[in-house]
Amino acid sequence: MIKQAIIPLAGLGTRLLPLTSVFAKELLPINGKPGIEYILDECIDAGIKEVIFIISKKKEIIKKYFYNDLFYKKIIKKKNDQRVKKEYQKILKYKKIIKFVYQNKPLGTGDAVLKTKNLIKDSHFLMLLPDDLIIKNNCSKSMIKIHQKYKSSVMASMKVDKSTVSRWGIFKLKKNLDKNNSLIDDVIEKPSIHEAPSNKAVIGRYILPKKIFNLLINQKPGKGGEIHITDAIQSLIKNNETFIAHNFSGKYLDCGTMNGYIKSTLEIAKL
Ligand code: UTP
Repeated sequence: MIKQAIIPLAGLGTRLLPLTSVFAKELLPINGKPGIEYILDECIDAGIKEVIFIISKKKEIIKKYFYNDLFYKKIIKKKNDQRVKKEYQKILKYKKIIKFVYQNKPLGTGDAVLKTKNLIKDSHFLMLLPDDLIIKNNCSKSMIKIHQKYKSSVMASMKVDKSTVSRWGIFKLKKNLDKNNSLIDDVIEKPSIHEAPSNKAVIGRYILPKKIFNLLINQKPGKGGEIHITDAIQSLIKNNETFIAHNFSGKYLDCGTMNGYIKSTLEIAKL
């Protein structure tokens, strides 16, 4: 069973500047609820028992949000506000399962993942990128089922517009296993249109094997000078590790850009 999830939150959020110069984008409310809470609810509903947040000193506001329960307690005592009471209960529930590790230099997603090395207990763990919201279906839950069925690593996959392939990790598929799942032959981080082997992109949900840490320790920076998790995954695939691309059902929302964030708010308000 997959019981642990990790969430990298130590990036700079430059696409949401100037807001991100003073605030963590993951706390921005989407229809009244911080984006990160949608991700936590997805984890809890998928049976995850421990969530590791990778933050940085610049993003300690995230830790503060979950550790402000004394402040809530005092307000509740004074005012007995039912809404605040409910929020307090929710925060306590989240706090119980969250651990924090630090990545103070944003060297890339691969380096962020490496910071959790000593905390991962089982053979596989779930990773969620918080900019990527998936609504109308619990993608993590579906991926955990696929992992149990095929005993392999899994990544969420979605077709993207050919003209945008350079923004994503792109797959080359080996063979279809069933309607929504295929074996992966190759994955390339942010390829040019000419380099891209398809228009199938990696979306921010991964079930990764613990052995990925051995590769991350020695991994050199790749595109843009960053240590990408995709490059470590590519090395694992080349070493015969089975990775499945799971074509998820549900709707993908990108909260990492201002346009995407506004659209996500509108979509979630419609639910
Ligand atoms: P991105 O590079 O897509 O987003 O990282 P970003 O850094 O948050 O924002 P931009 O691109 O500057 O606008 C994907 C995820 O990985 C985390 C980010 O916090 C984000 O959730 N990340 C990225 C880290 O934790 N550490 C890093 O070194 C890089």
